[in-house]
Amino acid sequence: MAEKSFKYVIIGGGVSAGYAAREFSKQGVKPGELAIISKEAVAPYERPALSKAYLFPEGTARLPGFHVCVGSGGERLLPEWYKEKGIELILSTEIVKADLAAKTLVSAAGEIFKYHILIIATGSAVIRLTDFGVQGADAKNIFYLREIDDADKLVEVIKGKKNGKVVIVGGGYIGLELSAALRINNLDVTMVYPEPWCMPRLFTAGIAAFYEGYYANKGVKIIKGTVAVGFNADSNGEVKEVKLKDGRVLEADIVVVGVGGRPLVTLFKGQVEEEKGGIKTDAFFKTSVSDVYAVGDVATFPMKLYNDIRRVEHVDHARKSAEQAVKAIKSNEEGKTIDVYDYLPFFYSRSFDLSWQFYGDNVGDAVLFGDNDPASPNPKFGSYWIKDGKVVGAFLEGGSPDENKAIAKVARVQPPAVNLDLLTKEGLSFACKI
Ligand code: FDA
Ligand code: NAD
Repeated sequence: MAEKSFKYVIIGGGVSAGYAAREFSKQGVKPGELAIISKEAVAPYERPALSKAYLFPEGTARLPGFHVCVGSGGERLLPEWYKEKGIELILSTEIVKADLAAKTLVSAAGEIFKYHILIIATGSAVIRLTDFGVQGADAKNIFYLREIDDADKLVEVIKGKKNGKVVIVGGGYIGLELSAALRINNLDVTMVYPEPWCMPRLFTAGIAAFYEGYYANKGVKIIKGTVAVGFNADSNGEVKEVKLKDGRVLEADIVVVGVGGRPLVTLFKGQVEEEKGGIKTDAFFKTSVSDVYAVGDVATFPMKLYNDIRRVEHVDHARKSAEQAVKAIKSNEEGKTIDVYDYLPFFYSRSFDLSWQFYGDNVGDAVLFGDNDPASPNPKFGSYWIKDGKVVGAFLEGGSPDENKAIAKVARVQPPAVNLDLLTKEGLSFACKI
C-alpha cells in the first residue's frame, strides 16, 4: 500500500484543523510539509453553521460560504487555498489505526501516513441512544447532528415531511438550536429533556425560564423531567412514536437527538495520558508523547485563570488552541518560547431572534438583571456569577458588540462585588464601567 510522509500531519479536518492550517501558513510552511487527513469529504468549515443557517428555509448557508475562517471574521479558506499553499487536504479518509511510537497512521483503505509532528484534532462524536440500548432507537428518521452529512440528511427530511411532527430529545445546545431551526421550518416541535430546566450545564433556573417562555410563545412544546425510553416504527421502519418514561407517547415523523458528545480519543487509548475524558496537554497543547499535540474538543488543558485543568467543547477554544499549538511548534523549532495559553471561556448561541454570550466561569452565587420577560418586544437581560466576593462569570442576552465586550472584560478582570442586591440593580451598567 502507498506510504506518504509529511513533516506535520493534522488528524481531523474540522474547525481546529482549519485554523491550524492558517496559522502554519502565517508562520511559514513549505509545500508538501503539511497534510490534513479528514474523514469528511469537504475542506474545514465553521461547524456552528450546521445547527443554524444551514437548516433555515431562507438565508440558507451552504458551502463554500462558511469554510473557515469566516466565523471569526477571517479569510475564507477554499480548497484552492490549500492547493496554492502546498498543504495536502486528504479528504474522505478515516484513520483507523494510530501508532504514536512508530509515528504512523493507517487509513480504512490501508494507506500509511508517516509524520514527524502530529496534531490530534479529531473533535467529538455524538452520543447515540443505541449506545445505551434504548428500544427502537435504530428506526429511520431518528437523526443526530455532528457533520455536514448529518445536516444534509436533516435538510432532506425537512423537505419531505412538511408540517410534520418533530420530537427533539435533549435540552442542551443541539436541543435548543434544532428546536428553533425546525420550528422556523414550520414543523410541529416538542422538546423532551430530563432536567428541571434547559441547558442546565450553564443556565440558572432564571435564565432558562426566559428561553422556555420564549420558545413556548413560538409554539415549541416542552416536556421536562422525563426521557425517551423507546420508539415505535411503521412497516417501513420509519419512526412514528416516542415513548416517554413517564408513560406518555408522542407522535413523531422526525426525531432529533442531542444528548451530548464524546471526545474522539479511542485511536490513542493506552498510548497517551488522558484526563477528564480528553487527551492531557500542557499550556502549549503538547501531550505526554513527544511530537504529539492535541487541540480543540479532545484536549484537556491547563486553565490558567482558574488554576485547574479542563476540556472545552466550543468553537472559540477550537480556533485558539489550534493557533497556540502551531505557534508553539514553530517557536520550538526556532528555539524561541511563547506565552502559555491563558484562555477565558467564551460560549454563545443563537436561535430565533435571540443571541446570547457567556464569558468566564458559572460558579458561586448567580444574580439576574434586566428585562427577562419572554413576551417583551426587545428582551435584554443577563446574569453575573459571584464567587469569593468577585464576579467570575457573565451572561448577556441581546447585547450589542460593545456590551458583549464589557461582559467579557468583567469575566477576565473579576472585579469585587459584595452587595448582590446592588449588582442586580446596576445590571449591565456595572459591566460597562469596568
Ligand atoms: P471538529 O468536530 O470540528 O472536527 C473534527 C474533525 O475530525 C472532523 O472533520 C471529523 O470528521 C474528523 N475526524 C474524527 N476522527 C477522525 C479519524 N479517525 N480520521 C479522520 N478524520 C477524523 N460551538 C460554539 O462555541 N458555538 C456554536 O454555535 C456551536 N455550534 C455547534 C453546532 C454543531 C452542530 C456542532 C456539532 C457543534 C457546535 N459547536 C459550537 C461546537 C464546536 O463546533 C466544536 O467545539 C468544534 O467544532 C471543535 O473543533 P474540533 O476541531 O476539535 O472538532
Ligand atoms: P449538551 O451536553 O449541550 O446537552 C446534552 C443534553 O442532553 C442535556 O442537557 C440533557 O438535557 C440531555 N440528555 C441527556 N441524556 C438524555 C436522555 N437520555 N434523554 C433526553 N435528554 C437527555 O450536548 P448537545 O446539545 O448534544 O451538543 C453536542 C455538542 O455540540 C457539545 O459539545 C456542544 O458543546 C456542541 N454544540 C455547541 C453549540 C454552541 O456552543 N452554541 C451548539 C450546538 C452544539
